[in-house]
Amino acid sequence: MHILGIETSCDDTSAAVVIDGVQILSNVVSSQNEFHAAFAGVVPEIASRKHIENILPVIDKALHDAGTVLDDIDAIAVTEAPGLIGSLLIGMNTAKALAMRLQKPLIPVNHLVAHMYALNLSNQINYPYIGLLVSGGHTMLCLMRDPVTMTMLGTTIDDACGEAFDKIAKHFNLGYPGGPVIDRLSAEGRDDAIRYPIVMLDESDNPFNFSYSGLKTAVVYQTEKYLADPSQKPSIPDICASFQKAALTVLLKKACRACRDYDIAGIGIAGGVSANRCLRRMLESEKEITPYLPPINLCTDNAAMIAGVAYHMQHKVLSGSALYKLVPRTRSTITDGIVS
Ligand code: KG4
Ligand code: ZN
Repeated sequence: MHILGIETSCDDTSAAVVIDGVQILSNVVSSQNEFHAAFAGVVPEIASRKHIENILPVIDKALHDAGTVLDDIDAIAVTEAPGLIGSLLIGMNTAKALAMRLQKPLIPVNHLVAHMYALNLSNQINYPYIGLLVSGGHTMLCLMRDPVTMTMLGTTIDDACGEAFDKIAKHFNLGYPGGPVIDRLSAEGRDDAIRYPIVMLDESDNPFNFSYSGLKTAVVYQTEKYLADPSQKPSIPDICASFQKAALTVLLKKACRACRDYDIAGIGIAGGVSANRCLRRMLESEKEITPYLPPINLCTDNAAMIAGVAYHMQHKVLSGSALYKLVPRTRSTITDGIVS
């Protein structure tokens, strides 16, 4: 089954053709980073306007790269939520128009479930596993029972992990997006140069929640204190490496705790921050854990993960057990609730 996936939840315009949920024929991603860099963050208005410009050329290229034409496509999958509403609407309306024109099913996909599915595109997964979804908008610990059933165990109570990377990079004028820059600079620094807080939060509340605003503030203010002390002199790479170590350690501590509590052996990471080399190394060196890592090009937003997971939702729909329904051609009823 050929599924055309469309992803426009934030600032990347992407389209992909995937066969039977596993074989990626094409995956085109048009990045808008250069337009948002001056603001050191995504500007929703700019993102929507760029999606309008990019969406049709990106779909054309995805079909071309896949060696397909629209008539070869069996279903259209599109990111439904969460995301920036203006951005989502461009993808959703384009997908609806295509589905109506082709008289093919439209499969609305949850962006978070799709991020976790990126793991299936390069790993043989044993379910259940503990998922860490870490991106610019989300920091979530979840239990994945199968490709489309995600139970949320905890989430951030303030900033997302990737957001902390971006904001710290902005504070030190390192560039945008901040994650890849901090990742790169950290390789030249000492991760024990500065002791930043490892924020575990109150264990009696939800032990699987996260908080990044305190760490972000500590990096900004504590570092100014260190920089003012000539005997300390931490370099920018030292600051990056120390921050990154604190930010990532807490992710793995909580994921390992979830493995113990639920008697689960595997941890999978997904989302933009899963491209981080230090996080990948830390996960791979975790004892008695089976690590699941996505390929680097499928960590950040992409449509292959949308088209891939949609294949499994399509089957659930046909067997009558899906939480999502196919959107009828002339109606737009989209039920929520894949994330329970
Ligand atoms: O998944 P994604 O493309 O978009 C969202 O759904 O948010 O993630 C983007 C986020 C940004 O915050 C970016 O700084 C971060 O992922 N990121 C990284 C790395 N590459 C991207 N963070 C840490 N290390 C990286 N190598
Ligand atoms: Zn994302």
